[in-house]
Parts: sequence; C-alpha cells; structure tokens
Amino acid sequence: MTLNLNTKISLKVKILIITVGVLFLYVSIGTLISSSIFADEYSKALISKSLVIDHSLKSQLDRLLKLGIPLEELTGFEKQCQEIAERYKEISYAMVVDYNGQILFHSDPMQQGRMINDAEILDAVRNEKENTQIFSMEEDYYGTSVPIFDTNGKHLGAVMVGFPVEIITQKTEVIIFSSIIVAFVSFIVTTVILVYTISRWITKPINKLLDVIKDIGEKGDLSRRVKIRSYDEIGQLASSFNQMIQDLEKTRGKLIEAQKDLEKKVKERTSELDEKVVELRESEIATLNILEDLQKTLEDLGQSKNKIEQQNIQLKKLNKIKSDCLNITSHELRTPMSSIKGYIQMMLKGNLGTINDEQKHALDIILRNSNRLNRLIQDILDISRLESGTMKFITRKTGVTKMIKEIAETMQTSADLKGIKINAETGIDVPELTIDIDRITQVVVNLLNNAIKFSPDGSTINIKTRKEKEDVLFEVQDYGRGIPEEHHKKIFQTFYQVDSDADTKFGGAGLGLAICYGIIIAHGGRIWVESTGKPGGGSTFRFTLPVDSVINIEERFKGADVFGLEKG
Ligand SMILES: Nc1ncnc2c1ncn2[C@@H]1O[C@H](COP(=O)(O)OP(=O)(O)OP(=O)(O)O)[C@@H](O)[C@H]1O
Ligand SMILES: [Mg+2]
Repeated sequence: MTLNLNTKISLKVKILIITVGVLFLYVSIGTLISSSIFADEYSKALISKSLVIDHSLKSQLDRLLKLGIPLEELTGFEKQCQEIAERYKEISYAMVVDYNGQILFHSDPMQQGRMINDAEILDAVRNEKENTQIFSMEEDYYGTSVPIFDTNGKHLGAVMVGFPVEIITQKTEVIIFSSIIVAFVSFIVTTVILVYTISRWITKPINKLLDVIKDIGEKGDLSRRVKIRSYDEIGQLASSFNQMIQDLEKTRGKLIEAQKDLEKKVKERTSELDEKVVELRESEIATLNILEDLQKTLEDLGQSKNKIEQQNIQLKKLNKIKSDCLNITSHELRTPMSSIKGYIQMMLKGNLGTINDEQKHALDIILRNSNRLNRLIQDILDISRLESGTMKFITRKTGVTKMIKEIAETMQTSADLKGIKINAETGIDVPELTIDIDRITQVVVNLLNNAIKFSPDGSTINIKTRKEKEDVLFEVQDYGRGIPEEHHKKIFQTFYQVDSDADTKFGGAGLGLAICYGIIIAHGGRIWVESTGKPGGGSTFRFTLPVDSVINIEERFKGADVFGLEKG
C-alpha cells in the first residue's frame, strides 16, 4: 500500500511535501519562540518605563519634601499622578502610598484615602531598598515601587506605578498574529518559488529525460538525445544517459552488421550445403553405379579367378609333365651319349683300327659336339631338378679359400686359350661354410666360363671372397663387354641371352646363370650383377652365402619356387 502511494506521488509533490512540512515546523517553532521572547522583552520594557515614571514622581516629591512640607500635609500631588497616567497610555495607575499602606495620591481620585490590604503590595511599600520592586496585584497588574524618605532618612512610603498584565498578552497576541500572517504569506511565496524552482530545476529535466527514455523504450529510437541545460547532477545524469544511448546505438549498429554478416554467411553456407547435398546425391548415385559395376566386376573376377586357378592347376600339371619329360629324356640321352663318347674316344685312340687324318678331324668334331650336347643335357637336367625342387644337395663344411684356389687353377687352362689371367684372392677372415661344394663349384665355374667367354683376349679376371656381416661375399669380375642395366635381372631367367644371335655362337643356351641362381637361392643366399654395360667396363657378378649353416638344404629347397613358376 505504502509502496503504491509512493510510486503514484510525483517527485515534485514529494519534495514539496517535505519542504513545506519542514518550513511549517520551522515557522511554528520560530513564531512560538519569538513571541515568548517578545512577551518577556516587552514586560521588561514596561517595567523599565514604569520605573522611570516612579523615579520622576519620586524626584518631584523629594523636591517638595525638601521644602520641609511633610508628606501627610501635601496636597494636589494627585494631579501629577493623573498627568502621568494620561501621558502613558499603557500605565493603569500611578500612586503614592504611606508606610501604613494608605493611598495618599492616586491617578484615580476615587482610590485616594483607601487602605491597601494586599500583603505583597504592603511588602513592596515597606521595602527600603532603592531598587526596583516588582509585584503583582491580584494577578491583573504588574507594579513597580520606589521608596520615599524624608530629609532625615525616615522611610515614609513608596511611589508606585502599575500596568495591566493584559497589555502584554494583547501585544503578544498581536505579534503572534502578525507573525502568522507574515509566515503564511512567506509560506505561500516560498511554496510558489519552490514549485517553480523544483519544476524548472528538477522535475522538468527529469520528465524530459523520462520522455526520451519512454520514446526509446516504446519506439526503439536510439537517435533520441536529452538536451543538457545544466551541469548539476541531473545534467550529468542526462549527459551520462546520452553517452549510454550513443554507446547503445553503436553497439546496436555493430550487432545489426554482425547479424547481416551472419545471415549472409548462413545463406552462403546453406547454398554451399545445397550444392554439397546435390553433389552428395550425385556421388551417391555414382557410388551406387560403381558398386553395381564392382559387384559385376567381382562376379567376373570370381569367375576369372576360378578359370585362372583351373588354368594354374593345368599349368602345374603341364610343368610337371615337362619336368618329368625333360628328366626322363635327359636320362635317356645321357646313356647313349656316354657310349657314343666312349666309342669315339676308342676310335681316336686307334683301338678300333687305324684312322686317317680326315677321319680323326671328323671324330674330333663329333667328340667336341658330343661334349657340348652332354653338358647341355646336364644343364637341362639341373634346371629341371631345380624347377621341380628335386635337386639333391650334399652339404659339408668347406674351406672357401681352398675351393676358390682349386677352381681358379682348373679354369686357368681354358682361360689360357684366350691369354686371360685369373687372379684369385680370398680374405683372411672368411670362415668355413656348410655348403654343397660341388654345386657352389658349379656356380663359380659357370660365372668364370661366362667371364672368359665375354672377355677380350689377354684380359684379367678377378675372383675374390670376403666376409660381410652375416655372409661370405663371392665376386667374379671381368673387363669384357659388360651388361646393360635393363638385362641385369632377366639374365638369371632360363634361356635368356642379351644378344641371342651372337651369344648362341659362343655355344651357350642361356641356362648357366639360371642354374647359378637356383643353387644360390637354395643355399639361402643372393646373386646379382653390377655392370655399366659399357664395352671394356666389364661386369661383376656377386653372390652371398650365409655364415650360419643352412641345415637341410634339400628339405628347405623342396617345393621352393626358385624360378617363380608359382607366381604364374
Ligand atoms: N660375364 C659376362 N659378360 C657379358 N655378358 C654376360 C656375362 N655372363 C653372362 N652374360 C650374358 O648373359 C647371358 C646368359 O648367360 P648364361 O650363362 O645363362 O648363358 P650362356 O652363357 O649364354 O649359355 P650357357 O651358360 O647355358 O652355356 C649370356 O648369353 C650373356 O648374354
Ligand atoms: Mg654361361
């Protein structure tokens, strides 16, 4: 309830109520205090005045007494008393009283000769003090008295002047009344001034501020500003408010910008998203198509795989047949070849009768070709065994240095035919190896044969061995025609020759390196060639054999895919 009242009463009225209330209290208290002070002061002034009158009457009397006229014989002094009472309107009476309390002279002739019975007045009459005596008479009058003495100093009585209490009350009432009038008038004037001032200085600016706030609140018009007319608290409030609205306007501007930016970005993103959705749909369709194609391809692939598997089985069967055939054929060829060679050698020695030179020449050719054929049959047999994984390996501890030296010595005979020198060099740290010495000798011999075959007359061939980490490295180096890089891997395939026409003339079939490859792989090693392919630059064939013994090479080798036949 109180809260409602407070909110309904305007600020102007509130200030007015407080100010008027304070003013009213102030004027009331002021009037009360000033009227009581006035009454007091006025009574004092009256007492002083009556004392002056007392003394003036007393001095007149003293003059008469000094002439030697006794007081009780004096006449006509009442006239002086009447004159005084007439002259001073506020005085009620003036009288001369003797020591016994009899009124000798009075401004009212009717009172003359009367005896005073009032004890308080009698006390004042008999008081000898030259001082002012103030007494009240039946509460209606205030009086002052001055004692009278004869020339001998005998106390004769007193001169007394009285004035009514009512006069003070009347005067005080007048003062109070006029004070109230003045207060009321000044009250009205002050209120008017206050209303005007409050309205001009406080409520008007606040109302204007309120108008602007309402406008901003209802219409959202942030361009509105409050006019600043003063630099007091309200002015500062208005200025701060303006500053706040300005900041708000700026912030709102920025917000609008940000919102626009956001809307733009959302639009862009939405359109991008739409595009992406379209793209996604397209890719989905494409993916579905691809999946469909893939399914078909997979089906086709499955069918092809089955076909290939069947073909592979067929191929393996064929390959086995080929190997078996080769094996059998070579075996079958070797026996007649041995008897042919035996008979030729017997004929050449003349065991079967004398032969002429022409016959000897012919038999030499037959023997040479028989040897070639024999070697070819042996190579085909080896390849066939390597391919089928049936080659036999008999391993034992072998001293590499000795083996190499013996091979070099043996091969030097055929190298001598071309004036080629074979240098054999083995490292001191080369350990013994557990290998099939015949097969490894076959590898080194094959490499040396090739080196001699493809080297110019009078050149050198180096054969070296050394330990390298876990392996022993073998190296056959020549200074022949070299092998271009594109043939480096292919030369290890069966029947592959760099220059098939020319190389066949050397009497080879392209099997030597394939056999070397098979044997080295079976031993757990590696074989490769290094050559720039430039004539005279030569070739270096290298192979490794592991230091750790390869236990049971045959078992390991059995079924091994030496020539990658399994890979098709
Ligand atoms: N040291 C070498 N210098 C140049 N070419 C070589 C050398 N060794 C091998 N080749 C090339 O590699 C081919 C394959 O050699 P590989 O020993 O397998 O067959 P071949 O010597 O021709 O015949 P085969 O060894 O069967 O008697 C050779 O025909 C030759 O073209
Ligand atoms: Mg060869």
